[in-house]
Amino acid sequence: MTLRKICGLSSSLVCHRRFLHDTKARSSRVFSGVQPTGNLHLGNYFGAIQRWVELQETDKELIFCIVDLHSLTVPQRRADLSANITRLTAGLLACGIDPERATLFLQSAVPQHTQLGWVLSCLTTMPRLGQLPQYREKAAEHGEVPLGLYLYPVLQAADILLYSQEQTEVPVGQDQLQNIQLAQHLGKAFNRQFGKLFPHPKAVVDEDAGGRVRSLRDPSRKMSKSDPDSRSCVYLNDPPERIRSKLKLALTDFTSEVFASPERPAVTALMTLHALAAGLTLEGVRSAAAGLTTAQYKLLLADVLAERLAPVRDAWARLEAEPRYLSQVLERGRQRAAEEAEVTWRAVVDRVQLRLS
Ligand code: TYM
Repeated sequence: MTLRKICGLSSSLVCHRRFLHDTKARSSRVFSGVQPTGNLHLGNYFGAIQRWVELQETDKELIFCIVDLHSLTVPQRRADLSANITRLTAGLLACGIDPERATLFLQSAVPQHTQLGWVLSCLTTMPRLGQLPQYREKAAEHGEVPLGLYLYPVLQAADILLYSQEQTEVPVGQDQLQNIQLAQHLGKAFNRQFGKLFPHPKAVVDEDAGGRVRSLRDPSRKMSKSDPDSRSCVYLNDPPERIRSKLKLALTDFTSEVFASPERPAVTALMTLHALAAGLTLEGVRSAAAGLTTAQYKLLLADVLAERLAPVRDAWARLEAEPRYLSQVLERGRQRAAEEAEVTWRAVVDRVQLRLS
């Protein structure tokens, strides 16, 4: 069964088959990852996935990883993890990731990620990892901090470096910047100690607000899968009624006019989402909201979001009903990724002078 058949794909979600997986013909490579924890939300979409889909129109080689090992750093039920992997695979394809165009694979299916992670963990220090903001935020939620949470950015560095070539780009939201800086640092540390191998991966963050989409309940926080309050996130497969009820509860302030300003972070965050979803400037959003109170505006925004997400939601439901097809996509991705990972791992083994037998 093809993706086009399952999705009934039209215009924006159409496959881009004209690009073959011929790395030699490509100008550069893109690598990025997403965790199968919870559900995809607008932050994931505007911060990263939308860009991944757009990159399919370029001649870059694209590798996207579902980082299941990362999601073990927070407690998971086994059945949930497996279901989340299926759901995320379907969700990424529904957003427009074309498995004929991009390599999509599961991290745990390529063991070189953890092998390289170990080598890299020997090149950094505990104080350096302890300073990373994501660790500090998450550690604050735990009484006793799992070691995996601490090592998480090292594994992320291995994910990136395993596939790094000259000019590898890593498109992510702003929250990942420090982790990518760590990958850059670990690549250099490896090169210094064992001889040049890893090129410098480059973080690509949308400079406009897509890089940091805010929680609907607290604009000082990012929209996050791990937020216990599900009303803080709009998930990409939320039905229109749920989007509406979440938007009704979204934080605003005491001024009912709709305009953006630094003193109004909550309203500005909503207008920013609107701008991202409708492809407008903030000025354009202000005109669209002219004459509305913030309460009325939130319902308008709910409609805009529901309309924008409708094709994703429909394709997602169809794809989730095809778990065998989704497994085939991941298996094909694994084969491509494993070839590449093995080449890098062999070079690491050679530099470090590990003995494989
Ligand atoms: P994850 O799964 O939390 O998020 C996936 C992508 O979505 C972006 N993102 C956001 N962007 C803007 N606003 C938000 N509110 C928002 N929330 C999430 C993230 O920045 C990310 O780009 N550690 C990574 C996964 C990872 C990875 C990698 C990424 C593992 N290895 C290697 C790149 C390269 C993470 O937890 O992403």
